[in-house]
Amino acid sequence: MSPAELLAAADLARLCAHAPYSNYQVGAAVLTADGSVITGCNVENASYGLTMCAERVAIGSAVALGQPLISAIAIVAGEGPPPFPCGACRQVLSEFAASELPIYVANSSALDRYETTTLGALLPHAFRLR
Ligand code: THU
Repeated sequence: MSPAELLAAADLARLCAHAPYSNYQVGAAVLTADGSVITGCNVENASYGLTMCAERVAIGSAVALGQPLISAIAIVAGEGPPPFPCGACRQVLSEFAASELPIYVANSSALDRYETTTLGALLPHAFRLR
């Protein structure tokens, strides 16, 4: 699974975003241990604080499908800065991925100009109970 393939899946998922309040559509695609690609989009709510980020929707789906080990994630949004995952999503990722997790981010209009980082670089010293 190449970064380009994972980014393409995230870009497709972005089309399903429910983002009438921010008008900021996000798609995420996670690669799981068995090679599956599982996607998510942001799901906003009129009660703004209930909004779910695309990454956490994808991660939740992966867990619910019995694939709780994540080996890569791609995130795609519209215009603006590259869509690095928010702090909450970084912490949730740390529950299901190693610090070496590759994270690919890109804008929808320029998928080929993606940036690569790792979970460890974005979230050093993740909170752990064990
Ligand atoms: N959002 C994500 O989907 N992922 C992030 O990592 C940060 C923000 C969404 C939530 C909300 O629907 C919109 O982007 C604007 O904050």
